[in-house]
Amino acid sequence: MKPIKKIGILTSGGDCAGLNAVIASVVKAATAHKWEVYGIHDGTDGLTERPLSYELLTIQNFSDTPWSRISGSYLGSLNKGVKMDSQVEMSKRFGEGVKELGLDAVIVVGGDGSMNIVSNYCKNAGVKMIGIPKTIDNDTPLTQYSVGFDTACQVCMEAIDSLETTARSHHRALILEVMGRDAGHLAMNAALAGFADVCLVPEIPYTLEGIIRKLESIKNTGRTHAVIVVSEGVKTLSGESVSGAKNLVGESIHGGIGEWLSHALNAQYSGFQTRVTRLGHVQRSGTPTAFDRILASIFAAKAIDLLSKGETDLMVGLSNGRLEAYPLENVVSCGTTLLDAESSYVKAARALGIYIGE
Ligand code: F6P
Repeated sequence: MKPIKKIGILTSGGDCAGLNAVIASVVKAATAHKWEVYGIHDGTDGLTERPLSYELLTIQNFSDTPWSRISGSYLGSLNKGVKMDSQVEMSKRFGEGVKELGLDAVIVVGGDGSMNIVSNYCKNAGVKMIGIPKTIDNDTPLTQYSVGFDTACQVCMEAIDSLETTARSHHRALILEVMGRDAGHLAMNAALAGFADVCLVPEIPYTLEGIIRKLESIKNTGRTHAVIVVSEGVKTLSGESVSGAKNLVGESIHGGIGEWLSHALNAQYSGFQTRVTRLGHVQRSGTPTAFDRILASIFAAKAIDLLSKGETDLMVGLSNGRLEAYPLENVVSCGTTLLDAESSYVKAARALGIYIGE
């Protein structure tokens, strides 16, 4: 492989805390090799739209303002999906953009969808790529953690703590709907951290009777309040998605199961008044936790190290505490990592008496 002189970096998919720490760390580690780093604006748009949209990044960009400590993406991001039939044309435009800028490789900070789409562009256009996993959903294959998940768990846990105090005052069962798309990692981790009473996730079927039994058992102990966490990907009892909305490429846009659950519970049970909080996009923000900052740093340093050794078409990740690099084709072929119903998190939730389904 010809020696690297110039690389690009882009953030793709839903944003999350820790992205700026990744970007800044990539710039620092690449600058140590005397490489130039171009920041691509708004995900792949900066390379596929014309005129190209990018900027040269230097360490100065990240020292004048403490970007690494702030969530969001300095470069902007894109979360809209790409139709299969436009992938060939998009790959061509992407490849031409990379050529025009003279980039030797591109670092893509993204989740499972972005790893799939952008690695396909790169493969079609002959562009070298390294992936860095990020997503509050924590569903990127092979890696145990993605940047942004830990901060999102923290945001959800703080929401549960806040709800618990008002639930206690008003003797209510408060429902918190959290994000996570089709995976229950965020809901399950938040419920454990927040000591919730009920946690519904897309991967485990539930019944209203089961939830009511749990609420009744709480009452029997003399406690007059409860907190229920529900993941946005949970379906109604008849297996429907509440929102019914789809994005441009036909993927479901989740949201609304909390309200549905509240109505369904109220129709069968009057033991607790319920109210619903849909936490929404605040989960994608918040001050990046120590863990996410460290993950951002080690993933970025590893990405640059791999490129310096001529190794590409890999995604960095963490498995059993070890920093790893996985072939992008393996990442893509694994699809999405859902919550394992036999995982120690699920087992712990059951052991601690959290109602998580049947
Ligand atoms: O994938 C991250 C995520 O925040 C999901 O948890 C959520 O379903 C989705 O993105 C929301 O996307 P948007 O930013 O398009 O509303």
